[in-house]
Amino acid sequence: MAHTAFPGTTDRRIDALLALLADNAMIVISGAKIAREIGVTRLTVWRWIQQLRALGVRVKGHPRTGYQIEEVPDILAPTLLHRRLHPGPLGKRIHHFFKIDSTNSVAMTLGERGEPHGTLIVAEEQTAGRGRAGHTWHSEKTNGIYMTVLLRPAISPQQAPLITLVAGLAVREAILEQTGLAPDLRWPNDLLFGRKKFCGILTEMNAEPDQIHFVAVGIGINVNHDRIPENLSAIATSLRIETHREQSRIEIVARLLRHLDSYYNLFVDKGSEAIVARFTEVSSYARGKRVRIETATENYTGTTEGLEPGGLLRVRRDDGRVLPVIAGTLSEAD
Ligand code: BTN
Repeated sequence: MAHTAFPGTTDRRIDALLALLADNAMIVISGAKIAREIGVTRLTVWRWIQQLRALGVRVKGHPRTGYQIEEVPDILAPTLLHRRLHPGPLGKRIHHFFKIDSTNSVAMTLGERGEPHGTLIVAEEQTAGRGRAGHTWHSEKTNGIYMTVLLRPAISPQQAPLITLVAGLAVREAILEQTGLAPDLRWPNDLLFGRKKFCGILTEMNAEPDQIHFVAVGIGINVNHDRIPENLSAIATSLRIETHREQSRIEIVARLLRHLDSYYNLFVDKGSEAIVARFTEVSSYARGKRVRIETATENYTGTTEGLEPGGLLRVRRDDGRVLPVIAGTLSEAD
């Protein structure tokens, strides 16, 4: 099946340019040769090289001397990313954008157009990144990972919250493997180092009361930010800040898709129990944590008492009632 054209998708010839430069890293390659190989004019090559430079890709040279890349670029372009991916349905099809409003919005539209299970939508920058509860997601150019995976699980809408837990477990595993640091999971959708968040997950679905058509699992990760905007610095961090070095976004996405595939299969094969058990094992929020919950209608504090089979978090409120949290923002209570 041909890729569904989506407005703003990265020109496949820019993707080819990146791959060509990466394949010839450390070699000077003439503008004329690049132009010939990817089928554009030398002027277009020059313009695209300028665009890549603006994204931090280090390319030396100019049209007369030829071009030389100084390191394999960490751009999440389909050709470069495909080379790192493990075989499997996740990421088999990739829609890449240099700039888009929100990868989740694209995924919801592509889902309606029939894109298959596993399609990945990824952007270098989002102009209207969305978070839970109507929040925005700070999505500055190239430093973060902004991605959405389209899934078509054969589950009931009531089980959909488990997909968020599946994605969180996969991100945790990928980050642990990449950095050697084990993040905490704050139910249902945040990954933290200490009390600071570096990743959020926004799961949206298109469903009827008894059937899911598809789920868009949006994942935002602060990767190479060397500082966090002042209004967020008390509550947010990045992998670079935590590990004191730059991290490869391509490697992280590749690891993440591999772990997402295996946790998703665990969920499909063994059911919710396996996911709930694993989440309880690795999240400090699952049991015995003092928490504050803020919803549209009430704020309360309590202590967590494990997850229900459907993935909802049970909280013993300070008034003694034990109830699942259905909506709301959770934070650690002092
Ligand atoms: C949250 O913590 O509230 C969830 C944040 C989810 C952000 C990601 S970035 C990629 C995808 N596209 C969006 O618009 N949002 C998600």
